[in-house]
Amino acid sequence: MAGKDNADPSSIDKTSFYWAAKCGACHPGGGPTEYDRDGELYFDVTSAQFGYEKLGKTSADVTHDGDYCMVSPTTGSLSMAAWDKTGVSEPDCLLCHRSDRTIADGVDKTASWRQATLRSMTALVDDSGEVVPAYASAATAGQGWWSTLEIPTPPPGKPPSASVLQIDYSVGVADGNLVADASDMLSFSGASITKSPVDYSCWGCHSMAEKKKRGRVWFDADNDVHYAAFSHLDDADPDNDVAASDSASCNRCHMNDDNHNFAKGNIFLGSVNDSEDYANFRTCQECHDGDGAGRDPEAPAYESDIHSNGHMDVMSCELCHIPYKVTAAQLVGDNASTGSPKGFYTDAFLSSDPQDPSMGDASRWYPTFRWKTDKDGVDRLYPAKGLVALWWGDWDQGGTPADYTDDVIEPVILWRVREMTGGLALPGVVDDNGDGVAEVNTEAEIMLYLDALKGVDGYGNLLAENPVLIKGGQVWHEDPANPGTVVSFEFHGTGIPVESFLPFSLDHNVRPTGDALGAAGACGDCHSGFNGGLPTDVFDREILVDPYGVDGQPVYETPRDMLGISVF
Ligand code: HEC
Ligand code: HEC
Ligand code: HEC
Ligand code: HEC
Ligand code: HEC
Ligand code: HEC
Ligand code: HEC
Repeated sequence: MAGKDNADPSSIDKTSFYWAAKCGACHPGGGPTEYDRDGELYFDVTSAQFGYEKLGKTSADVTHDGDYCMVSPTTGSLSMAAWDKTGVSEPDCLLCHRSDRTIADGVDKTASWRQATLRSMTALVDDSGEVVPAYASAATAGQGWWSTLEIPTPPPGKPPSASVLQIDYSVGVADGNLVADASDMLSFSGASITKSPVDYSCWGCHSMAEKKKRGRVWFDADNDVHYAAFSHLDDADPDNDVAASDSASCNRCHMNDDNHNFAKGNIFLGSVNDSEDYANFRTCQECHDGDGAGRDPEAPAYESDIHSNGHMDVMSCELCHIPYKVTAAQLVGDNASTGSPKGFYTDAFLSSDPQDPSMGDASRWYPTFRWKTDKDGVDRLYPAKGLVALWWGDWDQGGTPADYTDDVIEPVILWRVREMTGGLALPGVVDDNGDGVAEVNTEAEIMLYLDALKGVDGYGNLLAENPVLIKGGQVWHEDPANPGTVVSFEFHGTGIPVESFLPFSLDHNVRPTGDALGAAGACGDCHSGFNGGLPTDVFDREILVDPYGVDGQPVYETPRDMLGISVF
């Protein structure tokens, strides 16, 4: 994201205006989609003033202001953010609290209509062709109070964006969710408000992130014991079944406090509001076996012997009870080969044989593990999907090449990389692994980009002073001793704060106990001693760390090596 104050367009990534449309679709309204970083409304319709105008500035003062300019992520071109056309996006209570929602083909329309409207930015018009303020109208569109909402089929890989919106509150009156009084003032019908939001109101925003980052499913009784149990789909009585549209299970574990802080844990990546970690949160252990307020009387206690031998001191419940996933998740994000993010999913590099990733059947994939501090303060191993990331950086050695501790590697903004590559792999880069896509992996190929990155962007600014490639746990850079050639070193342990392996927590989709690791006496899942001395499926499974090494072949490591643990 772009900072507030920027010296020149070359240092500007996605600005607040872009964020409100493309990210605000899920990162909800209110706060940063209403107010600038000085606390002013981006645009105040009552006074017809931009926030900066209230502070006595003119548009000339804010041409490089991350709140008031807009740099096109496709072309890098600079323009002013037209908050006066879009309005601002306010908090949307009905996104969650609407009871009579429209859900079609598993998609919550309250969320998706709102999202498509936001994304249209300044391009939204009504039936007569007049501009409609997309950000200000998005919540209304989400409620279905319109006579026209045109959402053209988007180009492949792009999310849908609305083109025409004709707001019409009479639709709500006809449906009964808006009620007119004697003077034709409309108010919201009490029956259309629910106190306890259904899962679809969460899933409208979370589904895309959860599916892509974690291969998570919901509303799927076969692949989630809690969804099945909480909706009574796992018993013999069809009369007590709760329909997917009525399921309100998310908040059974993520309870709400008076301030809408949904209880949460301490996920590895992207955890929000760390001061609230575990507050109010019901852990697996508390529901199943605790003796406190978190105990769920319907949750069976864990009594099998496997829950002993010190196992519970080192392993989380999730490690054994979320043994694998059945839906593909994004495994690789290659931002380097073209500058346009190229994703590969688990099916490209993993298989249902944890020790033979090239086996071919991709109906399952297996996570890696990471240490995490649990609610009771004990560090345990948790399952995670490692997203393997490839990106170009600018390495500032702080004037002390021998000392890594003060080094910073800043990513090169992607619109600048794309401007350099033209959105394609550079000439001379070939497809080494035969998947039909050219990838940057050989030393000569890396050198081509490092040379190109020493050039300037369309604004005449240097792309990178000291360009490097971050890939497979290594920093790849030009060898100062042999200019024109590439060398690399492992960055873990150097103190340089960079990553190429991003662990996403896997905490949902608990499988039936028969699928748990070690079920029915399968101690050899983890202990080589119980596995005839052979490598084990759990600690010797193959985890991808680089999709294409210098020879074009994928590089894997085992959890045993990554974690430095030895299970006998
Ligand atoms: C389809 C909905 C959706 C859109 C669109 C979206 N996000 Fe998110 N994002 C989420 C959810 C949900 C989470 C947090 C929970 C999680 O990790 O699944 C999240 C988490 C994040 C995080 C925390 C780290 C991480 O990767 O989990 C960052 C940073 C982030 N989003 C930035 C953005 C930016 C920038 C954009 C726009 C370019 C954007 N998001 C668009 C849904 C979305
Ligand atoms: C992201 C979803 C979401 C949004 C948006 C949201 N709420 Fe809630 N709200 C919840 C959940 C979940 C609960 C807890 C329901 C329960 O405990 O059964 C809740 C509870 C409430 C309660 C009841 C509190 C109580 O203790 O009885 C009120 C009142 C409320 N919300 C008002 C609002 C208002 C006003 C807004 C808009 C400013 C809003 N909510 C926006 C999810 C949301
Ligand atoms: C059976 C309990 C349970 C239910 C039901 C549940 N969650 Fe979770 N959720 C968890 C646990 C456990 C974590 C991990 C907390 C930690 O230790 O960080 C988690 C984490 C999350 C996270 C952080 C990112 C992640 O996936 O790890 C999000 C977002 C989330 N849950 C959303 C939801 C939504 C939305 C629903 C309903 C569709 C839901 N949860 C239902 C237990 C549950
Ligand atoms: C408007 C979209 C939206 C809706 C609706 C929504 N969420 Fe979220 N939620 C997000 C985003 C985005 C984040 C991450 C925020 C960030 O990283 O800044 C998030 C974060 C979370 C987290 C914290 C993850 C962590 O461990 O840090 C939990 C838990 C969660 N949401 C649960 C829920 C539940 C339960 C509901 C339904 C009552 C819900 N959300 C509704 C978008 C949404
Ligand atoms: C809100 C309380 C609650 C939380 C939190 C919770 N569970 Fe459950 N769990 C239940 C209930 C209730 C059942 C269903 C019992 C039934 O079959 O009716 C269940 C079922 C199970 C089962 C199946 C048991 C069997 O005999 O078939 C397993 C395994 C399980 N949970 C593990 C976990 C794990 C792992 C976590 C943490 C990720 C967790 N639970 C979090 C309440 C909870
Ligand atoms: C080392 C792996 C492992 C860990 C860690 C683990 N479980 Fe289990 N769990 C199993 C296996 C395996 C079974 C099935 C028992 C069998 O087949 O012998 C099981 C069974 C269960 C059952 C069904 C009742 C029973 O005892 O048979 C519940 C409920 C359960 N586990 C919950 C949990 C919870 C909650 C945690 C964390 C506090 C946890 N488990 C940690 C492997 C594990
Ligand atoms: C999911 C992986 C997993 C499964 C399945 C599993 N174990 Fe373990 N076991 C571990 C780990 C990890 C440790 C801790 C090793 C350590 O601390 O170095 C451990 C420790 C032990 C210990 C204690 C060793 C000591 O030095 O204290 C015994 C005994 C043991 N396991 C027996 C079993 C038996 C018997 C089974 C089958 C019923 C089993 N384990 C299944 C992972 C597993």
